Amino acid sequence: MKITVVGSGSVGQTTAMRLLEKGLGETVLVDIIEGKPQGLALDLKEAAPVEGYEPSIVGTNDYAETAGSDVVVITAGFPRQPGMSRMDLLGKNAAIMRDVVGNVVPGSPGAILIVVSNPLDEMTFLAQQASGFPHGRVVGMAGVLDSARLRYFIAEVLDVSPSKVDAMTLGSHGDAMVALPRHATVDGRPLPELVDDETLEGLFQRTRDGGAEIVGLLKTGSAYYAPSASVVAMVNAIANDTREILPVCAWTTGQYGVSDVYLGVPARLGRAGVDEVVELDLNEDELARLREAAEGIRAKCEDLAKL
Ligand SMILES: NC(=O)c1ccc[n+]([C@@H]2O[C@H](COP(=O)([O-])OP(=O)(O)OC[C@H]3O[C@@H](n4cnc5c(N)ncnc54)[C@H](O)[C@@H]3O)[C@@H](O)[C@H]2O)c1
Repeated sequence: MKITVVGSGSVGQTTAMRLLEKGLGETVLVDIIEGKPQGLALDLKEAAPVEGYEPSIVGTNDYAETAGSDVVVITAGFPRQPGMSRMDLLGKNAAIMRDVVGNVVPGSPGAILIVVSNPLDEMTFLAQQASGFPHGRVVGMAGVLDSARLRYFIAEVLDVSPSKVDAMTLGSHGDAMVALPRHATVDGRPLPELVDDETLEGLFQRTRDGGAEIVGLLKTGSAYYAPSASVVAMVNAIANDTREILPVCAWTTGQYGVSDVYLGVPARLGRAGVDEVVELDLNEDELARLREAAEGIRAKCEDLAKL
């Protein structure tokens, strides 16, 4: 596998590090800042003897080096600062996304694009439009991260290992995130049997605000350890063709009564990209909130066309 990571900022560089540590493929790290990806790649190679991984990474400002990539992870773009919403990044990051996709596509026409830049759902839509790739080969990362945050918060409240917690979030990466209490379990037991309604709502709200909580603490920049871990889980599913079901931002074609919009849904991910969007059994309230999230994203994508 050849994996390109565009953007060597906090998310991009930690993604590159995790890719090397897991030996998922030959990695190319790209940035517009001269010397930054080269310096980071050299630093990562120098860690290879200690960590015991193969030093298969190149840092570059030249897209020629990315040619023939199987997967391209796009993390280029501005992160939030305290007080900003992800949507405040729309205009600036749309220009960056168009630039990156325009540079990546000619050399890697068969790649799968994993979009990370915010606002996530809209940037995933834009990457597909700009690339002209089939929808199944353009996918966004948000649901794995939001679900991981929720799983951690549940584990913290119940004082259990996060490995015992299963939970999934759908919808949009933001306030319109849809939590699914009936599908959350701890050691196989449904979450609503273990906590009261107020605690449940507190867990979901903390998850919705999970990114902002970290932005507020860091003061500059946003989260990157859990985001990069989530990206690498998706790359792993593609590289090893696991065809596992992960919550990702994928194109809808009628599932959950939603069509023609990128939305956070469970999807089977493998070597070809998104194999299928999986339909969970949702109740009327969950369905209504998922459809509302979809319409919010659709409206923002229409705004994008005017930028
Ligand atoms: N989807 C998610 O769940 C999620 C999670 C965390 C961060 N993010 C988003 O990911 C993006 C990156 O976050 P970060 O913390 O790594 O930011 P960062 O500022 O640390 O890094 C961004 C990098 O992108 C580079 N860049 C800018 N324009 C570029 C271009 N045209 N071509 C190539 N590189 C370019 C910058 O030079 C910088 O090195 C942000 O938009 C952030 O909001 C998304």
